[in-house]
Amino acid sequence: MSDPRARIGNTGTGFSYEEPLVFELSRPGRIGYSLPAYDVPPVDAVQMLPDGSVRDDIEGMPEVSEVDVVRHFTRMSTWNASVDLGLYPLGSCTMKYNPKINERAARLGGFADAHPLQPASEQQGFLELCHRLENELAEICGMDRVTLQPAAGAQGELAGIMMIRAYHEHRGELRSKILVPDSAHGTNPASAALNGYEVVAIPSDEDGILHPEAIEAVMSEDVAGLMITNPSTLGLFEEHVVRICEIVHAKGGLVYGDGANLNALLGIARPGDLGIDVMHINLHKTFSTPHGGGGPGSGPVGVKNVLAPYLPTPVVRELAGAEGAGFVLDYDLPQSIGRLHANFGNAGMFVRAHAYIRSLGPDGLKRCAEMAVLNANYLLARLRTAYHVPFDRAVMHECVLTDRSLQDTGVTTLDVAKRLIDYGYHPPTIYFPLIVHGAIMIEPTESESLDGLDRFADAMLAIAQEAREDADTVRTAPHHTRRSRLDETRAARKPILRWQPAARD
Ligand SMILES: Cc1ncc(COP(=O)(O)O)c(C=O)c1O
Repeated sequence: MSDPRARIGNTGTGFSYEEPLVFELSRPGRIGYSLPAYDVPPVDAVQMLPDGSVRDDIEGMPEVSEVDVVRHFTRMSTWNASVDLGLYPLGSCTMKYNPKINERAARLGGFADAHPLQPASEQQGFLELCHRLENELAEICGMDRVTLQPAAGAQGELAGIMMIRAYHEHRGELRSKILVPDSAHGTNPASAALNGYEVVAIPSDEDGILHPEAIEAVMSEDVAGLMITNPSTLGLFEEHVVRICEIVHAKGGLVYGDGANLNALLGIARPGDLGIDVMHINLHKTFSTPHGGGGPGSGPVGVKNVLAPYLPTPVVRELAGAEGAGFVLDYDLPQSIGRLHANFGNAGMFVRAHAYIRSLGPDGLKRCAEMAVLNANYLLARLRTAYHVPFDRAVMHECVLTDRSLQDTGVTTLDVAKRLIDYGYHPPTIYFPLIVHGAIMIEPTESESLDGLDRFADAMLAIAQEAREDADTVRTAPHHTRRSRLDETRAARKPILRWQPAARD
């Protein structure tokens, strides 16, 4: 093997084109630790292991110094896009910059070092935080109760539909269908189907939103409920939501609110006041943990009282009266849908979310939503001259464009996304929502300044111009990354999701 260091180039500055594997950095005898001398007699651990449990086919672990390891991983960490490096306009994911004070709170030893199996008597501070966060989220969403248990939005949906099913079953009603708009995130129909429901797709209208007539046409006493995302995945406010909920309720159905886009509503509108009976919230979008990259998730679910008996167990309960003071984990919910996972889930996210909510306060949260909406509309206004806008109206926290106006250049949405990397931006979400052909979905979030928005808009406009003057440069981008373009064309042309209501032009 050639010396990998020959490939490293300027390792001193970290600006190398290729990074060897840590195994390739290995040099015999080099170590990155020092241990104190034994103060007990050595034993041959291998002798003590059961037969067959020792492998002899491993060539050896890398032998590297501390500085080798630190620089290796630090160099690679600089290759990642992150919310700390720049605008990360991944629509639907709310990749906003979050104040570092929330990270700091989550790392406080009392939270970070606690063991989930410690008895409740030793976890009073954490249980109180959970209880407070539940109440804060209930207040923000207009719900009566909240469970923090689901570990993702998708699991929150699953839990919510399980509760809807339990509610109908408890009343002796065997309903078989769930209505889901065609603009919904794929996890919506998946959650309904996993609960044994037939999914009925509801078309959004020419203006991109749901209209009451479409619900009225299919609503019956066989429908357990409707799942509605507001703002929708098109970034549009479902302005008929109140009437739609009334139609569903009139036939005994319940309404599930996909609250993944709650960032646009904070402090302005409460889903519970609009008629939603049960909803999930993505802490890893709205409440100070960035989404994506395989990071931790948390999808608390809020319910109206009518669904409270079915909440997952255990619930955090504050002791009262003769019980004394403090908090317990209460398993005594006979109609509960059961436990959703072990322990508390990604507990650090609860701390971050609580710190975020408390540090901003009601006015600060409202300002977040206002700025998120303003920023998305500003970008839309600047980009509409160069990119086609499928639903031409004011948007909420994100805007959807398409590549239609670039069609004659041969440049596609995928090419624009790749070229943005050369301009230093993580690409927006592309080819989603599925009902928009060639969608480019941009969510700037409230964290961006006017300068930052303008720089991004300038990059998008420059790419549209390049498409006309030098299409090849765009079609073969990125050019300034460690890896050039991978062949993603098949995936881009044919989304693998089967939840594919007809795309519109
Ligand atoms: C509208 C919508 N619903 C549901 C989800 C699912 O959330 P999660 O990824 O946490 O499972 C997402 C995720 O991006 C979403 O955008």
